[in-house]
Amino acid sequence: MQHLHLSQPINASDWQAQSTAQSAKIKPASLALLLQMSAACSVFLLVWLVREIAQLWGFNLTLSVFAWVLMHSVLSTLYAYIAKQAHWWRWIHFGFAFAVWGMMQIQLPSEIYLACFIVTTGIFWTTFRSQVPFFPSRPAVWQEIEQLIPQHRPTRVIDIGSGLGDMAMYIANQRPLCQAEGIEIAPLPWVVSQVRGFFKQSRARFKLGDYYDLNFADYDIIFAYLSPVAMPLLWNKAMQEMKPGSLLVSLEFEIEQMQPTNIITPKDQSPNLYVWRM
Ligand SMILES: C[S@@+](CC[C@H](N)C(=O)[O-])C[C@H]1O[C@@H](n2cnc3c(N)ncnc32)[C@H](O)[C@@H]1O
Repeated sequence: MQHLHLSQPINASDWQAQSTAQSAKIKPASLALLLQMSAACSVFLLVWLVREIAQLWGFNLTLSVFAWVLMHSVLSTLYAYIAKQAHWWRWIHFGFAFAVWGMMQIQLPSEIYLACFIVTTGIFWTTFRSQVPFFPSRPAVWQEIEQLIPQHRPTRVIDIGSGLGDMAMYIANQRPLCQAEGIEIAPLPWVVSQVRGFFKQSRARFKLGDYYDLNFADYDIIFAYLSPVAMPLLWNKAMQEMKPGSLLVSLEFEIEQMQPTNIITPKDQSPNLYVWRM
């Protein structure tokens, strides 16, 4: 991960350069695809070589599908280890070829694969690039955020990466003076939040888009439940744009080297909330 100097704000062109550098770096999902393809090529090469040698000795070597799959799994896991992918990627690499083989045995109609592809793309959208997957927060977290919102004056609050919209709808319901909003980059969760908001007659507003395009100066409280990868750039944007006295609240993920103003532990098993007053 690229190290940013977080102790002081950086200017817009530096930020642009850092964003470009980050997006130019090969993403874990692209690397995983590359490793899978390398493993497949290596298996073909290896099998061809062994067959040639066996023929020289007068043997005719035939390999079972299981042997092909096992070789592919072991090699892709080894490549993931060499490429220093996170340890959970190694499990995915190991299981992938077996999963493909297993699914081929079931012989599902191809329409099912297409439907699964459309649904997962709609949910995860640019997760392969942003490395921020969909994962909902819980009511105990929304209740803690509610406590941060003043009761008697208008406040503008946004959930950046609003998922199914629960947090914003809860706040809109509990705090009548609060303008609660959400922005979501993935189309399917955004559609779901719009539909749910409509049927619940919620005052919360949801926008489809990238939170990088927002002006953070427009908000009093910004809630983020993202991922460790997203935090350095989020912090730089917050430092440049957020108003003095406004709050940045991050669920679970801290910002390297930046001491939060407050740490809140929700009443259930949810992770901590980190609060920075700008
Ligand atoms: C961990 S989920 C949190 C969902 C919701 N905030 C909650 O508390 O239930 C993160 C969400 O952020 C969305 N996301 C990731 N990058 C984004 C971006 N640049 N702009 C807007 N949404 C983004 C993802 O699609 C995902 O739905």
